[in-house]
Amino acid sequence: MRLSDRDLDLIFRRARTANFYHRWEVTPEEVRPIWELMKWGPTSANCMPARIVWCLSEDAKSRLARCASSANADKIMKAPAAAILGMDLEFFNKLHLYPATDARSWFVGNEQVIRDTALRNSSLQGAYLIIAARSLGFGVGPMSGFDHADVDQAFFSGTSVRSNFIMTLGHPDTATHRPRGRGWSLARQIKSYDLARAAERHFRIIAPMSASAACILLSGYTP
Ligand SMILES: Cc1cc2nc3c(=O)[nH]c(=O)nc-3n(C[C@H](O)[C@H](O)[C@H](O)COP(=O)(O)O)c2cc1C
Repeated sequence: MRLSDRDLDLIFRRARTANFYHRWEVTPEEVRPIWELMKWGPTSANCMPARIVWCLSEDAKSRLARCASSANADKIMKAPAAAILGMDLEFFNKLHLYPATDARSWFVGNEQVIRDTALRNSSLQGAYLIIAARSLGFGVGPMSGFDHADVDQAFFSGTSVRSNFIMTLGHPDTATHRPRGRGWSLARQIKSYDLARAAERHFRIIAPMSASAACILLSGYTP
Protein backbone atom coordinates (compact mmCIF):
# COMPACT_ATOMS: atom_id res chain seq x y z
CA MET A 1 0.00 0.00 0.00
CA ARG A 2 1.29 3.49 -0.78
CA LEU A 3 0.02 7.02 -1.22
CA SER A 4 -0.95 8.20 -4.66
CA ASP A 5 1.40 10.48 -6.62
CA ARG A 6 -1.14 13.26 -6.07
CA ASP A 7 -0.86 12.82 -2.30
CA LEU A 8 2.94 12.72 -2.45
CA ASP A 9 2.93 15.95 -4.49
CA LEU A 10 0.67 17.55 -1.88
CA ILE A 11 2.88 16.80 1.10
CA PHE A 12 6.36 16.78 -0.50
CA ARG A 13 7.10 17.45 -4.16
CA ARG A 14 4.78 20.35 -4.91
CA ALA A 15 4.40 21.55 -1.32
CA ARG A 16 6.26 24.76 -0.64
CA THR A 17 7.09 26.76 2.44
CA ALA A 18 4.19 29.21 2.57
CA ASN A 19 4.86 32.93 2.76
CA PHE A 20 1.56 34.26 1.43
CA TYR A 21 -1.90 33.02 2.35
CA HIS A 22 -5.51 33.55 1.42
CA ARG A 23 -7.12 35.65 4.12
CA TRP A 24 -9.44 32.82 5.21
CA GLU A 25 -9.75 32.52 8.97
CA VAL A 26 -8.24 29.46 10.70
CA THR A 27 -10.43 28.12 13.52
CA PRO A 28 -9.68 25.91 16.55
CA GLU A 29 -11.87 23.20 14.96
CA GLU A 30 -9.57 23.20 11.91
CA VAL A 31 -6.29 22.89 13.80
CA ARG A 32 -7.40 20.13 16.20
CA PRO A 33 -7.20 17.41 13.50
CA ILE A 34 -3.55 18.39 12.87
CA TRP A 35 -2.63 17.26 16.39
CA GLU A 36 -4.82 14.18 16.04
CA LEU A 37 -2.69 13.11 13.05
CA MET A 38 0.79 14.22 14.11
CA LYS A 39 0.57 12.55 17.53
CA TRP A 40 0.98 9.13 15.85
CA GLY A 41 4.49 9.94 14.56
CA PRO A 42 7.17 7.90 16.35
CA THR A 43 9.31 9.35 19.14
CA SER A 44 11.70 7.68 21.55
CA ALA A 45 9.76 5.75 24.22
CA ASN A 46 6.63 7.45 22.85
CA CYS A 47 7.64 10.57 24.72
CA MET A 48 5.60 13.58 23.69
CA PRO A 49 7.69 16.67 24.50
CA ALA A 50 6.00 18.88 21.88
CA ARG A 51 3.54 21.51 23.14
CA ILE A 52 1.82 23.71 20.58
CA VAL A 53 0.44 27.18 21.17
CA TRP A 54 -1.89 28.14 18.32
CA CYS A 55 -2.03 31.91 17.79
CA LEU A 56 -5.32 32.39 15.99
CA SER A 57 -6.32 35.89 17.13
CA GLU A 58 -4.74 39.18 16.09
CA ASP A 59 -3.70 39.74 19.72
CA ALA A 60 -1.93 36.40 19.97
CA LYS A 61 -0.16 36.92 16.64
CA SER A 62 0.99 40.43 17.71
CA ARG A 63 2.38 39.00 20.92
CA LEU A 64 4.39 36.47 18.92
CA ALA A 65 5.40 38.96 16.22
CA ARG A 66 7.00 41.19 18.87
CA CYS A 67 9.42 38.33 19.62
CA ALA A 68 10.38 37.70 15.97
CA SER A 69 12.84 39.29 13.53
CA SER A 70 11.25 42.11 11.55
CA ALA A 71 10.89 40.06 8.34
CA ASN A 72 9.32 37.18 10.26
CA ALA A 73 7.10 39.54 12.28
CA ASP A 74 5.64 40.84 9.03
CA LYS A 75 4.95 37.26 7.85
CA ILE A 76 3.23 36.44 11.15
CA MET A 77 0.96 39.47 11.00
CA LYS A 78 -0.02 38.82 7.38
CA ALA A 79 -0.75 35.10 7.98
CA PRO A 80 -4.19 33.96 9.20
CA ALA A 81 -2.57 32.00 12.03
CA ALA A 82 0.74 31.16 13.68
CA ALA A 83 1.93 28.43 15.99
CA ILE A 84 4.71 28.00 18.52
CA LEU A 85 6.20 24.55 18.79
CA GLY A 86 7.49 24.22 22.33
CA MET A 87 9.18 21.37 24.18
CA ASP A 88 8.28 20.36 27.71
CA LEU A 89 11.46 19.66 29.69
CA GLU A 90 9.38 17.64 32.14
CA PHE A 91 8.05 15.30 29.45
CA PHE A 92 9.59 12.36 31.30
CA ASN A 93 7.03 12.69 34.11
CA LYS A 94 4.32 11.84 31.58
CA LEU A 95 5.67 8.74 29.87
CA HIS A 96 2.35 6.93 30.20
CA LEU A 97 2.42 5.88 26.57
CA TYR A 98 5.34 3.50 27.08
CA PRO A 99 4.13 0.97 29.63
CA ALA A 100 6.77 -1.57 28.59
CA THR A 101 9.31 -0.28 31.12
CA ASP A 102 10.00 2.47 33.67
CA ALA A 103 11.45 4.90 31.13
CA ARG A 104 11.19 7.81 33.58
CA SER A 105 14.28 6.54 35.42
CA TRP A 106 16.35 7.07 32.25
CA PHE A 107 15.90 10.81 32.64
CA VAL A 108 15.56 11.82 36.30
CA GLY A 109 18.60 13.92 37.32
CA ASN A 110 20.22 13.77 33.87
CA GLU A 111 19.79 17.28 32.48
CA GLN A 112 21.77 16.71 29.27
CA VAL A 113 19.76 13.61 28.31
CA ILE A 114 16.52 15.46 29.12
CA ARG A 115 17.46 18.43 26.90
CA ASP A 116 18.77 16.28 24.03
CA THR A 117 15.69 14.04 24.11
CA ALA A 118 13.26 16.96 24.32
CA LEU A 119 14.92 18.80 21.45
CA ARG A 120 15.29 15.73 19.20
CA ASN A 121 11.77 14.44 19.71
CA SER A 122 9.95 17.79 19.69
CA SER A 123 11.76 18.61 16.43
CA LEU A 124 10.58 15.30 15.00
CA GLN A 125 7.07 16.12 16.19
CA GLY A 126 7.45 19.52 14.49
CA ALA A 127 8.21 17.75 11.23
CA TYR A 128 5.16 15.51 11.72
CA LEU A 129 3.16 18.69 12.35
CA ILE A 130 4.26 20.16 9.01
CA ILE A 131 3.39 16.99 7.10
CA ALA A 132 0.06 16.56 8.96
CA ALA A 133 -0.89 20.18 8.24
CA ARG A 134 -0.03 19.78 4.55
CA SER A 135 -2.01 16.53 4.38
CA LEU A 136 -5.06 18.44 5.61
CA GLY A 137 -4.68 21.16 2.98
CA PHE A 138 -2.79 23.79 5.00
CA GLY A 139 0.43 25.52 4.12
CA VAL A 140 3.01 26.27 6.81
CA GLY A 141 5.98 28.59 7.06
CA PRO A 142 8.40 27.35 9.73
CA MET A 143 10.73 29.99 11.23
CA SER A 144 13.68 30.02 13.60
CA GLY A 145 14.30 33.78 13.39
CA PHE A 146 12.95 34.85 16.79
CA ASP A 147 14.16 35.47 20.32
CA HIS A 148 13.68 32.30 22.37
CA ALA A 149 13.87 34.09 25.73
CA ASP A 150 11.19 36.56 24.62
CA VAL A 151 8.86 33.80 23.37
CA ASP A 152 9.42 31.76 26.53
CA GLN A 153 8.66 34.81 28.65
CA ALA A 154 5.56 35.77 26.65
CA PHE A 155 4.03 32.30 26.30
CA PHE A 156 5.64 29.79 28.66
CA SER A 157 6.41 31.82 31.78
CA GLY A 158 6.27 29.71 34.96
CA THR A 159 6.15 26.42 33.02
CA SER A 160 8.71 23.78 32.06
CA VAL A 161 8.08 24.43 28.35
CA ARG A 162 10.68 26.15 26.13
CA SER A 163 10.31 27.26 22.52
CA ASN A 164 11.75 25.15 19.69
CA PHE A 165 10.51 26.86 16.50
CA ILE A 166 7.56 28.88 15.28
CA MET A 167 5.51 28.84 12.11
CA THR A 168 2.80 30.60 10.16
CA LEU A 169 -0.19 28.56 9.00
CA GLY A 170 -3.11 28.99 6.67
CA HIS A 171 -4.42 28.25 3.22
CA PRO A 172 -1.48 29.12 0.98
CA ASP A 173 -1.77 31.32 -2.08
CA THR A 174 0.09 28.95 -4.42
CA ALA A 175 0.15 31.57 -7.21
CA THR A 176 2.87 33.37 -5.21
CA HIS A 177 5.23 30.39 -5.15
CA ARG A 178 8.48 31.05 -6.98
CA PRO A 179 10.23 28.16 -8.77
CA ARG A 180 12.58 26.09 -6.67
CA GLY A 181 16.34 26.42 -7.21
CA ARG A 182 17.85 24.29 -9.99
CA GLY A 183 20.01 22.29 -7.55
CA TRP A 184 17.08 20.03 -6.68
CA SER A 185 17.87 17.78 -9.65
CA LEU A 186 21.23 17.11 -7.99
CA ALA A 187 19.70 16.00 -4.71
CA ARG A 188 19.97 12.46 -5.89
CA GLN A 189 20.70 9.05 -4.55
CA ILE A 190 24.18 7.71 -5.07
CA LYS A 191 23.98 4.27 -6.60
CA SER A 192 26.06 1.48 -5.20
CA TYR A 193 28.47 1.44 -8.15
CA ASP A 194 29.92 4.88 -7.36
CA LEU A 195 29.49 4.55 -3.61
CA ALA A 196 33.15 4.35 -2.69
CA ARG A 197 34.10 7.34 -4.83
CA ALA A 198 31.14 9.43 -3.67
CA ALA A 199 31.65 8.52 -0.05
CA GLU A 200 35.26 9.59 -0.22
CA ARG A 201 34.41 12.83 -2.02
CA HIS A 202 31.37 13.96 -0.05
CA PHE A 203 31.39 12.20 3.26
CA ARG A 204 35.12 11.69 3.82
CA ILE A 205 34.65 8.02 4.61
CA ILE A 206 38.01 6.54 3.72
CA ALA A 207 37.76 3.09 5.27
CA PRO A 208 38.12 0.42 2.59
CA MET A 209 34.76 -0.92 1.38
CA SER A 210 34.12 -4.63 1.42
CA ALA A 211 32.16 -6.33 -1.35
CA SER A 212 29.10 -6.47 0.89
CA ALA A 213 29.16 -2.67 1.18
CA ALA A 214 28.12 -2.57 -2.47
CA CYS A 215 24.52 -3.05 -1.37
CA ILE A 216 24.64 0.20 0.60
CA LEU A 217 22.91 3.17 -0.96
CA LEU A 218 23.71 6.66 0.20
CA SER A 219 21.04 9.33 -0.07
CA GLY A 220 21.90 12.96 0.28
CA TYR A 221 22.54 16.30 -1.31
CA THR A 222 25.66 15.91 -3.42
CA PRO A 223 26.13 18.69 -5.98
C1 LIG B 1 13.50 24.95 11.10
C2 LIG B 1 13.25 25.99 10.02
C3 LIG B 1 13.54 27.31 10.28
C4 LIG B 1 13.28 28.29 9.31
N1 LIG B 1 13.48 29.62 9.62
C5 LIG B 1 13.04 30.57 8.77
C6 LIG B 1 13.03 31.95 9.15
O1 LIG B 1 13.42 32.34 10.25
N2 LIG B 1 12.56 32.85 8.26
C7 LIG B 1 12.09 32.49 7.01
O2 LIG B 1 11.66 33.35 6.26
N3 LIG B 1 12.10 31.17 6.62
C8 LIG B 1 12.54 30.22 7.47
N4 LIG B 1 12.48 28.88 7.11
C9 LIG B 1 11.97 28.53 5.78
C10 LIG B 1 13.00 27.81 4.91
O3 LIG B 1 13.93 28.69 4.37
C11 LIG B 1 12.23 27.05 3.81
O4 LIG B 1 11.40 26.12 4.47
C12 LIG B 1 13.13 26.31 2.86
O5 LIG B 1 13.88 27.20 2.09
C13 LIG B 1 12.33 25.39 1.93
O6 LIG B 1 11.54 26.13 1.04
P1 LIG B 1 10.51 25.38 0.04
O7 LIG B 1 9.66 24.51 0.93
O8 LIG B 1 9.72 26.48 -0.59
O9 LIG B 1 11.32 24.59 -0.92
C14 LIG B 1 12.77 27.91 8.05
C15 LIG B 1 12.48 26.55 7.79
C16 LIG B 1 12.71 25.60 8.76
C17 LIG B 1 12.35 24.16 8.47
